[in-house]
Amino acid sequence: MSQLNKSSRPKRIFIQEVVTRDGFQAERVFIPTEEKIALINRLGRAGYAKIEVSSFTSPKAIPMLADAQAVMLGIERVPGVEYTALIPNLKGAERAIEVDVDEFNLVMSVSEMHNQANLKMSREDSFKALSQVIDLAHANQTATNISLSTSFGCPMSGITPLADLMYWIDRFANTGVRGISICDTTGMGNPAQVQRVCEAAQSKYPELQWTVHFHNTRGMGLANALAALNTGIDRYDSSLGGLGGCPYAPGATGNICTEELVHMFDLMGLDTHMNIDALLECAQDLQKLIGRTLPSQLLMAGKVDRLHTLPYQR
Ligand code: COA
Ligand code: ZN
Repeated sequence: MSQLNKSSRPKRIFIQEVVTRDGFQAERVFIPTEEKIALINRLGRAGYAKIEVSSFTSPKAIPMLADAQAVMLGIERVPGVEYTALIPNLKGAERAIEVDVDEFNLVMSVSEMHNQANLKMSREDSFKALSQVIDLAHANQTATNISLSTSFGCPMSGITPLADLMYWIDRFANTGVRGISICDTTGMGNPAQVQRVCEAAQSKYPELQWTVHFHNTRGMGLANALAALNTGIDRYDSSLGGLGGCPYAPGATGNICTEELVHMFDLMGLDTHMNIDALLECAQDLQKLIGRTLPSQLLMAGKVDRLHTLPYQR
């Protein structure tokens, strides 16, 4: 790995919450609409730049998020927070326009096999369909972001060559999207690869809004975030408590954990704008809501400033 250039580290970091989309989509027991709304309202006041509210996919494919419209209509829109949603096709875009979603987060996979599994079509067909969605969004003055799943690796076809990723980045950059998310859907990326990918992407298209989306499937999540930071990436998707996982990716586990990411960046002196204590309270309550322990190590250990009494005092 070449020498990391600390001077390219951004000072202001934009945290983008995905728990009510990426997190909830893999949950088995339906989470009531009012609980989703209540959580998003609390998160809206915790300092996020963006919250991915839900997903306008087919209710048959992801029943958990069938209430996307009701959730969008029910939440309080905190000024300064962007409320985005995942949009897989034109039908989803039309439903999202009806409820005034701030940003369309489109999705396709760099891996042909994963695209077939997730979206039931070829990448070319996805690109054609998403180009129509982008035109519709722009005609409606809605911002667009494309999330490129399996940017680092695919559980069916292996490590993703950088040239394949750059090919799809080029295609979408030419459609006029505002941003691109480089997604490590099943936690296959490593810090050296992250550095190469982030440098290549940003140097070719410095004007695009770049996001990294890491999953902690193999324990490399925060290391990857740090590698991205050192190349100048300032936008991070993360999930409260580390909840999450793609239902179409075998062995997938949660996103990097928001409170762990914010805790780390705050300790490094970066400006996340986040209220870490509010996050920890939300994560505690999320454990109660889903009825099990979340993978967040910070929830277990507490922040570094949590002091203990001497353990063996008598
Ligand atoms: N919103 C609501 N309904 C939708 C829809 C959408 N965005 N897209 C399709 N549908 C409905 C159709 O109207 C049709 O309904 P019908 O059976 O009552 O006529 C049905 O779903 C099937 O439509 P079709 O166009 O054949 O879609 P499909 O079954 O090939 O599904 C996707 C395509 C992409 C919409 C679907 O596979 C999907 O939503 N997958 C989930 C992707 C995802 O979110 N993955 C995880 C995150 S990365
Ligand atoms: Zn994800």
